[in-house]
Amino acid sequence: MPSRRAVARRLESVADFAEPSPALEQYLTPPEIAAHVAHLADLQGDLRSRTVVDLGTGTGMLAIAAACFDPGRVVGVDVDPDALALARDNAAAVFGDPPAADALQWVRGDAARSPICAPDATVLSNPPFGAQRGNRHADRAFLETASEVGAVSYTIHNEGSREFVEAFAADAGGTVTHAFRAAFPIEHRFDFHEAESRELAAEVFRIEWERS
Ligand SMILES: C[S@@+](CC[C@H](N)C(=O)[O-])C[C@H]1O[C@@H](n2cnc3c(N)ncnc32)[C@H](O)[C@@H]1O
Repeated sequence: MPSRRAVARRLESVADFAEPSPALEQYLTPPEIAAHVAHLADLQGDLRSRTVVDLGTGTGMLAIAAACFDPGRVVGVDVDPDALALARDNAAAVFGDPPAADALQWVRGDAARSPICAPDATVLSNPPFGAQRGNRHADRAFLETASEVGAVSYTIHNEGSREFVEAFAADAGGTVTHAFRAAFPIEHRFDFHEAESRELAAEVFRIEWERS
């Protein structure tokens, strides 16, 4: 198993969005957080021989992090075709030429509509937070899909989401088994960002979903 630090270093070559869309909240998940999530998922036995689905894959960061641990297969989903092209290029940059990069699949789709049918998948996601546009809990649709598709999910939310995530999980037959905070540095990228850079506190949750 590769170390978390080695995976984070590998992920540093993942290129950021060239022209990030504010409406789609296109932020890169920091390599350290992606490596942390994938490492924990591997320790929990949530990657090996599993289908891993990255909802809102963007640059492919979380999907590529998972692929470093040799899962069954990895599918990255995004509504933005430019993001999917970037994710494909990033996978090729990290893993070299095919066939290694070909083990990842990239699917255009709306994360709110269960675009993948994969019973017992492991879902990873850093969904749009919705905080900037007063659209609190834009991440709810991603959690709904995670609860439908996943046996287990790892989702990244903005600070103060714990109550919301635990209540959502309880209503949908899930249990939060792990929760931790992670620093999320964001550089100036949209006009509404006033500072050159700032650090958000993000929260990461692992949820086990009950299957009947
Ligand atoms: C915060 S970014 C996370 C990106 C990714 N984890 C990364 O590190 O590049 C949110 C991503 O969700 C995508 N997205 C937003 N709404 C979506 C939707 N309804 N369905 C699928 N993807 C969506 C955006 O295009 C964006 O790539």
